[in-house]
Amino acid sequence: MATQGRQWWRRPSRLALGTLLIAGFAGGIFFLATFQKTMENSNSEAFCISCHDMNNTIYQEYMTTAHYNNRSGVRATCPDCHVPHEFVPKMVRKIQASKELYGKIMGTIDTPQKFEAHRLTMAQNEWRRMKNNNSQECRNCYNFDYMDY
Ligand code: HEC
Ligand code: HEC
Repeated sequence: MATQGRQWWRRPSRLALGTLLIAGFAGGIFFLATFQKTMENSNSEAFCISCHDMNNTIYQEYMTTAHYNNRSGVRATCPDCHVPHEFVPKMVRKIQASKELYGKIMGTIDTPQKFEAHRLTMAQNEWRRMKNNNSQECRNCYNFDYMDY
């Protein structure tokens, strides 16, 4: 039996190979499509404010800034500033964000009081992140070479 099994691996039939290839290909496409969709959905402002809603003041404050409402009508949304655009740093940040899912379940910032108490810590995390990547998310929009002083 064991020998037979090994032989199957050594000399797989064309049919088996073909099936494997097609299944792998279809699976790959399905995976990529789902992955792409998940990445898109989880990078929308609607997704962010589904948690960072009116209980904590972020969204209200944001609506008073030039990044929400301005002369040109161009907006910077939550993920524009908080989620890296390059693939690898983006994935790293997405994985770190599982902490936010956990925080949601535990109710870390689910009342204005809890939010205020935790706010400085969160701001510090964000400042550290920006310092480490030289504020890359700001630079995605602002290019000093093209600024008219
Ligand atoms: C499932 C609910 C949920 C969603 C969706 C969510 N967040 Fe959060 N977020 C939280 C919670 C809870 C915390 C506090 C986590 C903690 O410190 O334990 C948090 C913390 C943060 C922080 C503070 C950074 C830090 O590391 O402490 C930032 C910035 C942030 N969220 C931005 C975003 C952005 C941008 C989006 C959309 C791309 C988003 N969040 C989507 C629940 C969520
Ligand atoms: C123009 C860039 C920008 C946009 C747009 C933006 N943020 Fe922030 N956010 C920051 C910066 C910078 C900080 C660091 C704290 C500070 O300097 O005020 C921060 C801090 C935070 C924090 C940590 C707590 C705090 O108040 O410091 C959370 C949570 C957060 N943002 C969530 C969001 C969510 C949710 C949105 C969308 C509704 C959003 N941000 C939109 C730049 C942005």
